[in-house]
Amino acid sequence: MKYSKYSVIIVGSGIAGLYAALKLSETINLLDGILIITKSELSESNSRYAQGGIVGVLKENKNDSIELHVKDTLKAGAGLCEFDTVKFISENSQNIIEDLINYGVDFDKDENDNLKLTMEGAHSIRRILHSGGDATGYNIEKALVKKVKENPNIFVYEKTLAVELLLNKDNICKGVITYNQELNEYETIYAASTVLATGGVGQVYKYTTNPEVATGDGFALAYKANALMQDMEFIQFHPTALKLPNCENMFLISEAVRGEGAKLVDIDGNTFMEKYDERLELAPRDIVTRAIFNEMQKLKYNCMYLDATMIDKAVFQQRFPNIYKMCKDNNIDVSKDFIPVAPAAHYTMGGIRTTVEGQTSIPNLYAIGEAASNGLHGANRLASNSLLECAICASELANYLSFVNHQTSNIIDEKIIETIKKYDENIETLYLDYEIDSVKLKHDLKNIMWEYVGILRDEKNLKLALYKINDLENIYSNKYKCATASHYELRNLIMTAKIIVLSAIKRKESRGAHFRVDYPTPLETAKHSITNMKEILDYEKTYVNIK
Ligand code: SIN
Repeated sequence: MKYSKYSVIIVGSGIAGLYAALKLSETINLLDGILIITKSELSESNSRYAQGGIVGVLKENKNDSIELHVKDTLKAGAGLCEFDTVKFISENSQNIIEDLINYGVDFDKDENDNLKLTMEGAHSIRRILHSGGDATGYNIEKALVKKVKENPNIFVYEKTLAVELLLNKDNICKGVITYNQELNEYETIYAASTVLATGGVGQVYKYTTNPEVATGDGFALAYKANALMQDMEFIQFHPTALKLPNCENMFLISEAVRGEGAKLVDIDGNTFMEKYDERLELAPRDIVTRAIFNEMQKLKYNCMYLDATMIDKAVFQQRFPNIYKMCKDNNIDVSKDFIPVAPAAHYTMGGIRTTVEGQTSIPNLYAIGEAASNGLHGANRLASNSLLECAICASELANYLSFVNHQTSNIIDEKIIETIKKYDENIETLYLDYEIDSVKLKHDLKNIMWEYVGILRDEKNLKLALYKINDLENIYSNKYKCATASHYELRNLIMTAKIIVLSAIKRKESRGAHFRVDYPTPLETAKHSITNMKEILDYEKTYVNIK
C-alpha cells in the first residue's frame, strides 16, 4: 500500500471537478497541493456529453431577468426546489459565463458578435448559450482540461478509482483509499478536504444517455460513510435519445433541436404533444418523456419520431454538427427522414445532500455537480441549469475552502487504521470475485431498474425490484476490497439502485420525474426525502419477505 497526502482531493474530472481545482489554485496557496483523481481519463465525464448548453441570465438579453429564470426553474422543479439556492445560481450566471469565456470557452456568436441563445423545454425565453453548435459540454471540458494541465499546483491520477472514504472515530473525513486499475495498486491518500464531483448514475438503467463511467461511485462512497442522501428517487429521463437497433448507451438528440422547431410525431407524421401539454414539444422534460412513453405503449412502438425536416439542411448541419453526423452515419437524412427517438435515463436530480458550497453532513467531505443535491433542481431539472450549477458551486466551494484550515498532520487513528487494513490484506472474497461475471450482473441490474423503477412506477413493481436487487446482492455482496474496477462499479451500482428504489417506495405521490401510477397526484406539501444507510437498511428489513 502506498501513502500520500494532499491538501484537497477532488474525485471526478467533469466540469465541477476541474473548475473547482482551478478556482482553488487561484484562491489559496495550498501547501500539499490539489489532486484530481479520475477512473478514466482526465477529459472523460458526463459533462462532456452535454449538448444543449448552459443557461446564461445575461444583462444584454433585455427579455430576461433573474426573476424570470428563477420562476422557470421553480416551476419545472414541481415544488421541490429551494428558492435561495435557485436565486443564488441565477444571480451568479453572468459572472460565471464571463469567467468561462476568460478560460477560453468559445460560445457561439452571431454575425454581429453577440452570443447566440437557444431555447429549451420549460424556459420562457431563449437564454441557453452553446458552443460548437451541439458540443457545449465537450468544449467547456476541453478548455478546463487545458488549464488544469498547465497548472503546476494541480496533480492528476488517471485510471484510479476512489474505493472508500477514510473516516476517523469522530466521523470526520480524512481522505480516501484509491485503486489504480492499470497497476492493480492501492493507495491511502490523506487530505484535509475531500470533494466528490463524481457525477450521476445513468448506467444503473438499461437505456441511458450517460457514458460508461456514470456508475454512481460518489453516491456509494457517501452512502457507505452514512452521509445524508436526498431525493434519490428523482431520475430525469431525457425524452429524445436516438433509438438505434440493439443500442443501450444512447446518443442524445438535444432538446435544442425541438427548441429550433422540430416536432414529435408518430410514424405517419401525426403530432401528439397537443394531447398532453399546451407548451407542446417544449413542455418540461418529465411531461414530454411521459407523453412519448405513453404513445409508445399505446401504439406498441419501440420509439416515436422527431420531425426536423422543416429546419433547412445546411442550418441543421451548422447548428447541430454532431447530431447531423450521427444521423447521417446511420442513414438518417434529417432533411427528409424522421429521427427515431425514445426516452433514456439522463440525469440524477437527487444526490448527496449539500449546501450550495458543497458541504455534506460529514465534516471535511464536500460534493458538487450532479453528485450533490442542493435544492436547485427539485423534482425535475430545468434544461441546461446543470452545467451552470457545476461551475458556480465549484467556485463557491473554492471560496469556502479558502477559510478552512488545510493542515494534514495528525490524521490517523484506530478507525482509519482498520479501514486501511481491509484493503491492504489478501482477503479471500477477492478470489471469489474472479468467479463473478460483473458485466452480466450489471446488465441484470440495468434491466431490473428499467423494467420496474423507470418512467412509471408503482408499489408492486418497486418492491419486486427490491426483491430482485437483493437476489443480485446475494450473488455479489462484496462491500470492501473487490477484484477489478468493474466489480467496484457493480458494488456502487447495486448500492445506488437500492437508495433509488427505497426512496421511490417511500414517496407515495407523483411529482416531477417521479410518477407513481398508484399515487398519481402530488401531496399538498412538497418535502425532500432525506435518508442515510442506517435508515435504508432498517426500512429494507420490513420488505425482506416480499416477493
Ligand atoms: C440537451 O441538450 O437536451 C440536454 C441538455 C441538458 O440535459 O441540460
